[in-house]
This record gives sequence, C-alpha cells and structure tokens, in this order.
Amino acid sequence: MVAANEKDLIFLDRNENQYGPSPECFKVLQNSNDDTLNIYSRDFSRGIKSLLSARLAYDYGTEEKKILLGYGSEDILKQVVQCYINKGEKIMIPSFSWWYYKKIAEDVEGISIEYPIVEGEHTFYYDIEGTIKIYNEQKPKLVIISSPNNPTGNRLETNQLNFVLEKMKDSIVVLDEAYLFFDVTFKTDPVGLVNRYPNLIILRTFSKYYALAGIRTGFAFLGDNLDRISLLGTRYLGFNRLSEKIAIAALNSPEYYNSISLKMAEDMNMLYNELNQWPGFTAYKSFANFIMVKIPPEIKDSLKEYLTERNMIIKFMNEEELNRHLRITIGTHPQNCFLLKLIKTFMCKEMNHELVQGI
Ligand SMILES: Cc1ncc(COP(=O)(O)O)c(C=O)c1O
Repeated sequence: MVAANEKDLIFLDRNENQYGPSPECFKVLQNSNDDTLNIYSRDFSRGIKSLLSARLAYDYGTEEKKILLGYGSEDILKQVVQCYINKGEKIMIPSFSWWYYKKIAEDVEGISIEYPIVEGEHTFYYDIEGTIKIYNEQKPKLVIISSPNNPTGNRLETNQLNFVLEKMKDSIVVLDEAYLFFDVTFKTDPVGLVNRYPNLIILRTFSKYYALAGIRTGFAFLGDNLDRISLLGTRYLGFNRLSEKIAIAALNSPEYYNSISLKMAEDMNMLYNELNQWPGFTAYKSFANFIMVKIPPEIKDSLKEYLTERNMIIKFMNEEELNRHLRITIGTHPQNCFLLKLIKTFMCKEMNHELVQGI
C-alpha cells in the first residue's frame, strides 16, 4: 500500500475542531503589520499581564489577577502540579482520563490515585459516592476533575459539581473544562465557584471550541489561596502577542462558534443513532466534541485497517478496560458522513461474510 500524503488524511482522533477558527481570526493574520514584535507583550504600564487576560476578566466580570494565561491549558496544569506536588504526595485523577494527568504526576514523583468513572448502559458517569469515599481515605493534596471528561465524554452536572467541590474543599482542585463549551446550552459560573472555593482552579482553552489548538493559548480562573501559581504566571514577560490577538478575535465571533457547535451537536446525534444500530456497537452519550463507541472485539483490527487504508484516522483505545472502544472526534459534516459510509460498507461486508461462513 502506498503511504498516504499527510494532507489527505482525515484526523478524527485528536479532538481538534475540524471547522477551524472564525474568519475574524484569519483577518488578524492578514492585516498584521505589528511593529511591536520587538517589545515584550506583558502590559507593564497598566499593571496587568496582558490584553487577553484583561479581556477575559472583563468578559467574566472578575479581577484580572484571577485570570492566569498559559501556553495551552496543559501548560497551566503542568505548572500547578509542579508548583504544589512534592515527591510522594497524592493526586487523585479519574480512572479513565487524559494520559497527561498521570504523566505530570509521575514527573514530580507524585502518587496518582484513581477514582472511578463507571461504564453505564448508554453513558459513562462519575461514581460520586465512591469518589468521596476514596477522597476521605486518601486525603490527596490535589484532585483533577475533568468535565466533560476525555475520553469518556461524560460531565458533572452543576449540583454534582457543587457537591464534590464542597467535600473536597481542603485540597487543591483542578477542574479541567477543555471541552465545556461544546454544549452551548450549558451555563456555568466559574467566577462564582472560585470565589466560593479558594483552592479551586478552573482550566479552559482556546484549543477546542475556538478551534485554535495551534496558537497554544489556555487560561484559568484562580481561587484566592493560590498565590504561588498566580505569581508564576505573573512573572512571564508576556505571552505570544499574535496568539493573543487571534484569541481576542475568536472571543469577538460568538455567532460563528455557536453555529459550528450546533452543526457538531447535530452530527454527534447522527453518529450516535447510526452507530448504535450496528450489532455489538454502543455509542455513549457525550458532552464534548467526540464520542466513545464500544465495538465487537473481533472487528477491532480489521476495522482499523479498513479505515486507515481509506485515510480515515480515529482513535482505537488500548487501555486495559477500554480496549474494545473507539473515540471519534466530531468532524465537519462531510467528514462525519464519510466516516459513517465507511463503517456501513465495512459492516455490510463483515455481516455478509459471517452469513456466508455460516452456510
Ligand atoms: C482533557 C484535556 N484537557 C486539556 C487538554 C489540552 O488542551 P490545550 O490545548 O489547552 O493544552 C486536552 C487535549 O487534548 C484534553 O484532552
């Protein structure tokens, strides 16, 4: 087989936003004749970190010092762990979660303790009672909560989140909301939460909903007890000036992002309904820009080969308890239709093959 040109591959395996950023973001690049690139971008004169942190503080109605910027939310997350966790200290992380959580705990020789996410009939969910029990026994220094969670797509509803945060208020809690905005109807109050819980950090990013993974810009809301991490952020000489302008252009384009998210939500339903029709398939309800799907184990390798040969890349999970599962990023409408068509053709062949073998 001739290796495909990278440009021809459709990557529905990385949870990137395939629609791309708003036209306003491209205008920033097209009109850029910035003569301040020789100057550090930190806004020394006004005593703020940057234009972007000031803008976010304004939008969310909080003080600029409560907003932390980073090179992606991964950067902030890593800094939090490095800042607060010493060798042998405990971090609680979800049992099925983004691999990075465990790695950053290992980097500082922290001990990661898993708390349960359970596979239900049509959705994964946090076992809240079980989690609080583990929390009370282990008394971790830091807890990472991911909502919606990668790769399972489930989230904590507002009352559940409040309950958990109240129980965990003695620890530093990092709430990773990288995928939060995809459900455009879901309302949250990050400033209210960090005001109520001084050990809480809420992470958000421009990478997913705003389709700007390439500008590496994330931000966080900080509780009042978290001066150490706040100071680390303040010491930066600024962030990437161009990235900040592009991020602000994205914030100025709510209609665009709303409309692509609604398209993705419709397509998520289409995938959910169609995939659930195949024997042995379970597509799980998700609040992110991806869905998890369980498939019959005997087709895993052949399906992977079939899709890859046709330039369609999705994520086949390998974790011990998730090894019958795929994670599919919701792409553009034509990409999603193409994927469904490929799976349909593959399954029809498989089923005929089985019928023929059974004769
Ligand atoms: C749960 C979760 N949080 C954070 C990130 C990283 O986001 P960023 O691009 O802001 O570093 C990812 C990346 O896939 C993720 O899955």
